[in-house]
Amino acid sequence: MINHGMHALGNSSGKGRSMPVTFLTRAFPSRREAFTAKPARSPARRFKGFPMDAIQLLKDDHKAVKALLGELARTTTRAVKRRATLLREIHLNLHAHTRIEEEIFYPAYREAGDKEQVKLYYEALEEHRAAGDLVLPGLLQTDPSSEQFSGRAKVLKELVEHHVEEEEQQMFKQARSLLDKETLRELGERMTQRKQEVIEGWKAAKAE
Ligand SMILES: [Fe+2]
Ligand SMILES: [Fe+2]
Repeated sequence: MINHGMHALGNSSGKGRSMPVTFLTRAFPSRREAFTAKPARSPARRFKGFPMDAIQLLKDDHKAVKALLGELARTTTRAVKRRATLLREIHLNLHAHTRIEEEIFYPAYREAGDKEQVKLYYEALEEHRAAGDLVLPGLLQTDPSSEQFSGRAKVLKELVEHHVEEEEQQMFKQARSLLDKETLRELGERMTQRKQEVIEGWKAAKAE
């Protein structure tokens, strides 16, 4: 499989720093939920043990990363530590999200579809590559106290927002009719597990 990834990216800075409590309470109910994308009010998780619907899981991820990118875009060149913290969270969120999309969701979508789905599949991969292999690595290398960082953060936000919009308005809507509910739940369950593994792998690598 082609390496499309935000998973191939370099390390973010700020190893070992903790996230400010104010940020956590505003963006997510808890740190654990920020990493596992299981918001308390998700309809798909209303019943204990009920598998997460694949599309709901991905939309929850989108909401979380858009909130983080919005926070980052509102920071100034003086907010050096905050920028590093937010960027680390964005990096991990995008890394885990693109992994489960590319490994599990996209292949199932493509397999269930036809020419139109193959076309959207490759477009989506290219967008992952543009954000993950070009813009995000540049941002990770940029001095957070610079205006260049502000510009790159804005471009990353716009790229992700565009990509998310296309996924939600085209790919996910098509997937809802191409894949039955049971399949979407199975995919959701696999993605939930895989995401946890990816996050644990990431944390272990950072701790080395
Ligand atoms: Fe995506
Ligand atoms: Fe996505």
